[in-house]
Amino acid sequence: MNSFLMWIGGKRLLRKQIIALFPKEYERYIEVFGGAGWVLFGKEPGKEMEVYNDANGELVNLYRVVKYHPEALQKELAYTLNSYEQFNICKNQLEAEGLTDIQRAARFYILIKHSYGANLKDYSGRERTPDRGIAYLGEISERLRKVVIENRDFERILKTYDRENALFYLDPPYHSTEKYYSVAFTEADHKRLKACLDKIQGKFILSYNRDSFVEALYKDYNLHPVSRRNGLLERYNKSDEEMEYKELIITNY
Ligand SMILES: C[S@@+](CC[C@H](N)C(=O)[O-])C[C@H]1O[C@@H](n2cnc3c(N)ncnc32)[C@H](O)[C@@H]1O
Repeated sequence: MNSFLMWIGGKRLLRKQIIALFPKEYERYIEVFGGAGWVLFGKEPGKEMEVYNDANGELVNLYRVVKYHPEALQKELAYTLNSYEQFNICKNQLEAEGLTDIQRAARFYILIKHSYGANLKDYSGRERTPDRGIAYLGEISERLRKVVIENRDFERILKTYDRENALFYLDPPYHSTEKYYSVAFTEADHKRLKACLDKIQGKFILSYNRDSFVEALYKDYNLHPVSRRNGLLERYNKSDEEMEYKELIITNY
């Protein structure tokens, strides 16, 4: 199934290639940098335990509300206007205190859906038919029924859920694109992640952009080069090569 969100760095276009690399057997699946969860929603829900994690508290609150209170959220969203003014009201209210979790989730959902490229900041004015997206929250809620939802830093998640039979999918902020996320991620965090992955007993699949820093850091692992078209550049008449965005899928098996 599809995710219910667009998210910066979301793996909508690469999810099939990533899932094709899954090992045959694993008993727990952990998505460490969850975002819009394109790989989680793209895989078949098996018998394994599944965990979704992200360090962004607003995003995790939205997931929890979709999972536990889908109807209340749908009700809250039913009369939302598609307008610049409404967008700014949502933004301002999220910065204030006093909202319930359901009210916060609804406002954050609007910021994702109505911002340009899901950047949460700039209103993207265009015609919208929100009803399908709102109805889809019911299916997402059902899919999340048995998924454990966490809101922690990746190191804690790796320590908590690591077992020999674990499969981790990791999609950290890409090297040199960290500024697009509200949760800070530094050069030291990229190295800390590598140090954690060196120690795990389970299997991992890691997504990254293909640059010399990442290639050097993970030179001892299996590097699978992949590329996808950068849709945002298509309108600027770029050549095929310029539009190609080079990525890596890295595995320890
Ligand atoms: C590239 S996005 C993940 C996209 C996701 N795979 C998808 O398909 O939408 C990276 C995510 O990592 C989260 N993040 C940043 N720092 C983190 C940390 N220290 N621990 C866990 N998650 C973190 C961000 O909030 C962001 O949602």
